[in-house]
Amino acid sequence: AAIVEHVFHVGNVLVKPLCNEQMIPAVNGTLPGPTIKVREGDTLVVHVINNSTYNITIHWHGVFQLKSSWMDGANMITQCPIQPSNNFTYRFDITGQEGTLLWHAHVVNLRATLHGALIIRPRSGRPYPFPKPYKEVPLIFQQWWDLDVGLLNLRPAPLCDAYLINGLAGDSYPCSKNRMFKLKVVQGKTYLLRIINAALNTHLFFKIANHNMTVVALDAVYTTPYVTDVMVLTPGQSVDALFTADQPTRLYHMSISPYTSAHGIPVPANNPINGLIVYEGATSSSPASPLMPWMNDVATAHKFSSNITGLVGGPHWKPVPRHVDEKMFVTMGLGLDPCPPKTKCIGPYGHRYAGSLNNRTFMIPERLSMQEAYFYNISGVYTDDFPAQPPRKFDYTNFKVQTDSDFKMMFPERKTSAKTIKFNSTVEIVVQNTGIISAESHPMHLHGFNFYVVGYGFGNYDPIRDASKLNLVNPQLRNTIGVPPGGYVVLRFIANNPGVWMFHCHMDAHLPYGIMMAFIVQNGPTPDTSLPSPPSNLPQCTRDPTIYES
Ligand code: C2O
Repeated sequence: AAIVEHVFHVGNVLVKPLCNEQMIPAVNGTLPGPTIKVREGDTLVVHVINNSTYNITIHWHGVFQLKSSWMDGANMITQCPIQPSNNFTYRFDITGQEGTLLWHAHVVNLRATLHGALIIRPRSGRPYPFPKPYKEVPLIFQQWWDLDVGLLNLRPAPLCDAYLINGLAGDSYPCSKNRMFKLKVVQGKTYLLRIINAALNTHLFFKIANHNMTVVALDAVYTTPYVTDVMVLTPGQSVDALFTADQPTRLYHMSISPYTSAHGIPVPANNPINGLIVYEGATSSSPASPLMPWMNDVATAHKFSSNITGLVGGPHWKPVPRHVDEKMFVTMGLGLDPCPPKTKCIGPYGHRYAGSLNNRTFMIPERLSMQEAYFYNISGVYTDDFPAQPPRKFDYTNFKVQTDSDFKMMFPERKTSAKTIKFNSTVEIVVQNTGIISAESHPMHLHGFNFYVVGYGFGNYDPIRDASKLNLVNPQLRNTIGVPPGGYVVLRFIANNPGVWMFHCHMDAHLPYGIMMAFIVQNGPTPDTSLPSPPSNLPQCTRDPTIYES
């Protein structure tokens, strides 16, 4: 195993993906930022030098951070941010996982421009569980705002102006026709596409004209090979897929288009956003284009999301735990909260929107990170009373305000609350989408662990009917899952890593709405299974930290 070292200079740079030049914070001057390549078992060391004007943290999305919770980079959860003109070095081992992940800033909307690929190859001498590809190609999908005021002053981010593939908007937009991502391929060769949805707020469909792809991993976990002509990725998800240049020599578009998941309103896809596959020897002619799914094509998204299975017996596979120690039922809601003074609120009656889990709107701490408060036993930063159930039962997917207690569900409690979990226990979470939040898919992401997606369906979860249908044999094992519109997922994970870990919606627009909670995984019996002391140079909070503004 090696030590892989990077220096991240975070600075404000000028870029021009569309028509206007924009000043954005970027790592080493590029959008997307640098690709990190490691092998499983390596130690990754990243020196972050903050020359930007923003407070930042960097999160290694999907990395287990075994015994290195202090390196998770979750702003005000595991650390206070790195302030301008300050540095911090992230250092952690990458073990027990292979495939494609991403790194991104974890402070307000900064991940819009501070992100990049994190590629984990097998240890040297270990093969992939699929034929060795000729080449590997990172494909990073992004959202772009052509604003001169600066995206970062707006929260939540407004509708975006464009989508990008590897920083390039391509031929769907004015000003960017000649700035399109191009992949040159040799006929007959197979490529491993390492696909990441780094968009802040949009699920995206992906297709390549006239070609199939074979999915071999999701969120850096190998899957049973799955052949498809279309895929969908929620923000924060990644897919490894093989693609063989097995079609006639010419040009082909690879395209992305938004998946809005809204029920009922049939909307054709926007102009798809294109990159180009160029077969060696192809003369420039007009490229073949794929037909993209409609924006609300729930059926296509559901098929892709639910049909892929885990690679039982593959590298790092562990059987699904049969016994559950902690059962949780978590409802997602979107209610209202009185508008604080001197703030403009966009909700009805001058209120602001308040997303919630089990009718709690999560408040990011302002003075001290939760993990420092936990480690040093400092009270007043959070409470450990996150409820394992919603305050009451109701018809989740057909929620209507009829009674006083329905009305209360519209005004969630604002709190920084965590759920404490014993070391090594198996946690099962049913996440239920509700009518309180509109029929939209929400990508729930867990820090520090992968979860098995043992159940996935539409309607109200029924503990008797649906519990008997759980897939305990070959479910997906991953870190981010879209909870279907008007549906639910059932997740299991083993809490074998001490520390404070976020569980939240990976639509950035929903973070200020508090669709979030935290798990505190207690120490195990030995020093080796306990949360170590924080690194001595962990950034300190000032009296005026950047906080999530809502
Ligand atoms: Cu990729 Cu908490 O995030």
